[in-house]
Amino acid sequence: MELIFATSNKHKLSEAKGIIGNQISLVSPESLGIFDSIPEDEPTLEGNALFKARYLWQINKMNVFADDTGLEVEALNGSPGVKSARYASEECDAGLNMQKLLKELNGVKNRKARFRTVIALILDGREYLFEGIVNGTILENKSGTGGFGYDPLFLPDGYTKTLAELTFEEKNLISHRGLALRKLAEFLKTI
Ligand code: IMP
Repeated sequence: MELIFATSNKHKLSEAKGIIGNQISLVSPESLGIFDSIPEDEPTLEGNALFKARYLWQINKMNVFADDTGLEVEALNGSPGVKSARYASEECDAGLNMQKLLKELNGVKNRKARFRTVIALILDGREYLFEGIVNGTILENKSGTGGFGYDPLFLPDGYTKTLAELTFEEKNLISHRGLALRKLAEFLKTI
């Protein structure tokens, strides 16, 4: 079976291929000649993931999944959440986003946070949602150079290294996106 992964991010595509394996042939919209930039304006991760999946489903009725991720900080009532990419500015600058987060949390004792990924799958016209969560703490200073986004500030529960200090493989094993993708992979094995 062919399944579209609604992403233009090659990193994400190869991560998903690694987890979903050979049972399904994952294809990008670009490989099908679809270069549309799909808006992510919904107020929730679920809404954005479903919007992207539905957008592509409408084009050619091919089975498709899309993801959306946010960093949810308890003391900030779940912010930046769905706005994680553009928290500080429209430029999606990770350095500025982390700077803003540290400012918002300045003097705040409760540093609990979680990364949450939602995957929306449309299979033969039916919609399914899968969720992956990694809980942790926002540090007061950045540590590590790996990963991307907020990784240098995020210490996963039970670890002494930030996500930016873990290897690519170590991060994928515990990450929100890895967990959601493994749930999707398990589901796809049952169809
Ligand atoms: P996306 O939905 O995967 O594009 O993620 C939205 C935003 O959340 C990204 O631009 C990052 O700022 C942040 N983010 C998502 N996944 C991660 C991660 O694994 N580590 C750090 N930040 C992430």
